[in-house]
Amino acid sequence: MTDLVVFPSERPLTGSVPVPGDKSIAHRAILLSGLAEGQSRIEGGALGADNMSTLAALRAMGITTEEQNEMLLVEGKGLYGLRAPSAPIDCGNSGTTMRLLAGVLAAQRFATVLVGDESLTRRPMERVARPLRLRGARIEGKLDPKRVGEITAPLQIGPLPEPNVLGPLEYEMPVASAQVKSAILLSGLYADGPTYVREPLVSRDHTERLLLALGVPLSSVGAIIQLDGPSFSGKLPPFSITVPGDPSSASFLVVAAQLIPQSRVTVRRVGLNPTRTGLFEVLRDMGGSLVLEPKGEEMGEPIGDLHAGAADLRQGRLGGELVARTIDEVPILCALAARAHGTTLIEDAAELRVKESDRIAMMARVLRAFGVTCEERPDGLAVEGKPEGKLKAADIESGGDHRIAMASCVLGLLADGPTRVRDADNIATSFPRFVGTMRALGARIEVESSGGTP
Ligand code: S3P
Repeated sequence: MTDLVVFPSERPLTGSVPVPGDKSIAHRAILLSGLAEGQSRIEGGALGADNMSTLAALRAMGITTEEQNEMLLVEGKGLYGLRAPSAPIDCGNSGTTMRLLAGVLAAQRFATVLVGDESLTRRPMERVARPLRLRGARIEGKLDPKRVGEITAPLQIGPLPEPNVLGPLEYEMPVASAQVKSAILLSGLYADGPTYVREPLVSRDHTERLLLALGVPLSSVGAIIQLDGPSFSGKLPPFSITVPGDPSSASFLVVAAQLIPQSRVTVRRVGLNPTRTGLFEVLRDMGGSLVLEPKGEEMGEPIGDLHAGAADLRQGRLGGELVARTIDEVPILCALAARAHGTTLIEDAAELRVKESDRIAMMARVLRAFGVTCEERPDGLAVEGKPEGKLKAADIESGGDHRIAMASCVLGLLADGPTRVRDADNIATSFPRFVGTMRALGARIEVESSGGTP
């Protein structure tokens, strides 16, 4: 296991850096390239471990792929080209891999088993199984003894029962979830009737944008999406995509720049899909310094450079519809709140309790370790900012959650001594070059092996 030792910053963060390709878009691009007919090309920096799980799943089902430097070539075999894997498919730490795959595997005539690591095995899966069953799929999990009606991985999927085709579906999702919505839409590619899905709030819409760019008859109005299965040709064309930079990864750099005096940081070619930019909106409301410079589009996804600088921050509020658009950025928002004047409220965010870790409980623990007062609530946190002086140097157990580890590193830059962030290997699931990027901007972070179980 790896620990990171973060030293208090002695100088501003400065420079212009890229971030890895957006993890969400890359998952979708990889999966759809395997279902397309012919060779697709995916570029956009080194893939993190989560994306590699999706790629490995395709390989296990007979799809050939080739990595050339940071370019990935995938030989898609069409919607019905996947072969039965010879063993359970390991989705690692990746909820997106497991839930998106479930949508595609639900329509196959062979059976599959999806497994994951300890964290993924705790996460709720009935939310994706239920709508797929409603359209005729066979999908079962392990009954969760603690949550009535809930199932967890391993998921046993298929083979698709008679009449061997998924039916139409009209489904109101109880929770906003792009993973569940995407599984439903992907299953809709195989259905003999229309798919109609409605979310309580608009979640990230990368699947919709990519399917539209590939000519799939799909339309959406706000949180209502319709896919017209019967008029779909059944063929996805191969494509080339340079995946935009991940705004979730960029958030750590953008926030660090706000907090360290005189910093000026540019993050290049970041995806600016409005379903992902909630943190940037909250940051601006808090008086943050951030300028977005548009740089065009890639397969329906807006892109831009982010110019961030140090700022004097006031308290903010996250709640309502903004939560779905900030869902992965709450840990780093807590770091921002820790240095703002006044108390920042984070509400309506109970979903954070079923992410890679219980991120509400984890961030409450992290903030307190740094000497920041906060109140943990069932659906969020109230964080009392401590804008003056140094934070207390901390020893953080990140619980193997990449975003908790990275948010803790940013807080560590503001502490009165070295901070240790334990169990930080998991940062590689989304931001393999996090330490190198922070160093390039001027931060001092050492990597130490802690001798635990690797
Ligand atoms: C993701 C959707 C979100 C997000 C996750 C990635 C996706 O999860 O938290 O990191 O790529 O669709 P939910 O759909 O469970 O909200």
